[in-house]
Amino acid sequence: MGTVKTAVLPATVGGLTEWPDPLLIVLVGPPGAGKSTFAALFPTPMVLNLDTFREWVSDDPHDQQATPDAVAVERAILHGRLRRGLPCLIDSTNVDAAVRRDLIDQARGYGAPVVAVAFDVPLDECLRRSRGRARQVDDEVIRLKHAQLLDSLPRLPLEGFAAVYTIPCGERIGSDAHHPGAGAT
Ligand SMILES: Nc1ncnc2c1ncn2[C@@H]1O[C@H](COP(=O)(O)OP(=O)(O)OP(=O)(O)O)[C@@H](O)[C@H]1O
Ligand SMILES: [Mg+2]
Repeated sequence: MGTVKTAVLPATVGGLTEWPDPLLIVLVGPPGAGKSTFAALFPTPMVLNLDTFREWVSDDPHDQQATPDAVAVERAILHGRLRRGLPCLIDSTNVDAAVRRDLIDQARGYGAPVVAVAFDVPLDECLRRSRGRARQVDDEVIRLKHAQLLDSLPRLPLEGFAAVYTIPCGERIGSDAHHPGAGAT
């Protein structure tokens, strides 16, 4: 039994009551899909987010030139935690099959099952959610990543994940899930 328990899981993935350690959770979705909102349900140390690591190494979470250093930080934490039998959650878009393949390969080295959580949110809703927050992502980037998501959805069950869960659009997740008026429309 690990640190990820039903208490922190939304109903959509409530079937995951007995997750083994170590475990790697890979979120899959374009910007604005709600990945980080979902990730916030999990214990902070297990959530790996490249924006955070870019900021740590460069003071700017969106400095793309800092990405190689940020990836190195992510890798170090990923390996350190999996080696200790601790769970990790990758809070990145992961809409590229090669990126997912690499994550699965790395987890396999520690005997860690890898679970995909895909955010099946329509493009218009991703654009709307993205525009509604302080950090703006270029619409074209969202369009591109969303197209990659649509390509990815049917492939995920064939890629070697121990389980694939889909968060449908409109699913109420996060700490404000019970707040009237909060969430998707
Ligand atoms: N289920 C939901 N219903 C309605 N709004 C949501 C939902 N989930 C997240 N949001 C809102 O959508 C916006 C984008 O969410 P979030 O930042 O979690 O996306 P993200 O997938 O992490 O994007 P990025 O890849 O750019 O980091 C936020 O303002 C968040 O509050
Ligand atoms: Mg995010």
